[in-house]
Amino acid sequence: MRIVVTGAGGMLGQDLVPVLESEHEVFAYNHSGLDITDKRQVSDILDSIRPDIVINCAAYTQVDKAEEETERAFRINGLGVHNLALECDRLGIVLCHVSTDYVFDGSKKRPYTPFDNTSPVNAYGESKLAGERFLQWVMKRFYIVRTSWLYGAGGGNFVKTIHRIASERDEIRVVSDQIGSPTWTVTLSEGIKSIIESEVYGIHHVTDRTDGGISWFDFARAIVELSGLKTRVIPITTDQYPTPAKRPSYSVLETYYTEVSTGFSPPHWMDSLRRFLESFL
Ligand SMILES: NC(=O)c1ccc[n+]([C@@H]2O[C@H](COP(=O)([O-])OP(=O)(O)OC[C@H]3O[C@@H](n4cnc5c(N)ncnc54)[C@H](OP(=O)(O)O)[C@@H]3O)[C@@H](O)[C@H]2O)c1
Repeated sequence: MRIVVTGAGGMLGQDLVPVLESEHEVFAYNHSGLDITDKRQVSDILDSIRPDIVINCAAYTQVDKAEEETERAFRINGLGVHNLALECDRLGIVLCHVSTDYVFDGSKKRPYTPFDNTSPVNAYGESKLAGERFLQWVMKRFYIVRTSWLYGAGGGNFVKTIHRIASERDEIRVVSDQIGSPTWTVTLSEGIKSIIESEVYGIHHVTDRTDGGISWFDFARAIVELSGLKTRVIPITTDQYPTPAKRPSYSVLETYYTEVSTGFSPPHWMDSLRRFLESFL
C-alpha cells in the first residue's frame, strides 16, 4: 500500500515508519512538512501522492498544558483530524487515526472495550474525543486506534524520566492509584500494521498486555529493577501528587476484539519494557 504518515517526527511516528517500510511504500511527513491544521496543505499533499491510506500520528500531546492551551489542543486534535477526514473522504483514502485511553473517565474499573461510552475528564481527552467524533461524522472507512501510556526511543516519556531520576536519587515516590497499560511504540506500530492490513474498519484498542492493568508505581518499580538500580520506590496517592489535569483512575483498554479480528497479539508489558531498556541503556 501507499501510506502517508503525518506527525512522523514524533515518538510513535519514528518507530512506525520503519515497521511499515518493511512491506509498504511510505511517505513520511513531520510537522514542518505537513501541518494538519492547514487544510490547503493537507489537500495539496494528498492530491499529489494519492495514497491508499493516511496514518495520523500528529497530535497535541501535553496533557497538563492542554488545560491552559485548550484551544490549541482542539485545533490540532479536533480540527486537524477533521481536515484529514474531509480530504481523505473526498479522495477515497482510508484514514487511520491514533487516539487515547483518556477518552474514558475511569469509573468502569474493568477494561474498556471499543463499544463503551466515552467521557473524558480533562481538556486533552476532550480534544482527542473531538477528533474521533469529527472523523466518524465524515468517514465510512476508517480506523481509530486507541492506545495508552506510550513510551519509545524517539520522545520524552515515563520510562526515560523514571530511569533518570532513579539514577540520581536513593528514593522516588510514584502514584499507585492510577491503573492502566503501558505500551511500547514498537508494539503499537506492529498493531497498527496488522490493523490496516486487516480491513477491519472501526475502533481498535492496542496496548501491551497487562491482564487487567498495573499502576504507575508497579511500572516504575519494574523500570528500576530491570535497569539494575537499587533506588527505593515508594507508593503515593494521586492526592499527594497534584497535577493541572485530572487523570482517570482506571483506563485499561480491552484489546480482545482487535486480537480476534486482526490476529495481532500484543506482548506482555514486561517483555516490551525489557526489550526497550536493552536497546536504550
Ligand atoms: N504519549 C502517550 O502517552 C500517548 C498515550 C495515548 C495516546 N497517545 C496518542 O498517540 C499518538 C502519538 O503520540 P506521541 O507520543 O508519538 O506524540 P508526540 O511525540 O508528541 O508526537 C506528535 C507529533 O505531532 C506533531 N504535531 C503537532 N502538531 C502538529 C500539526 N498541527 N501538524 C502536524 N504535526 C503536528 C509534533 O510535532 P512538534 O513536536 O513539532 O509539534 C510531534 O512530532 C497521539 O495521537 C497521541 O494522542 C499518546
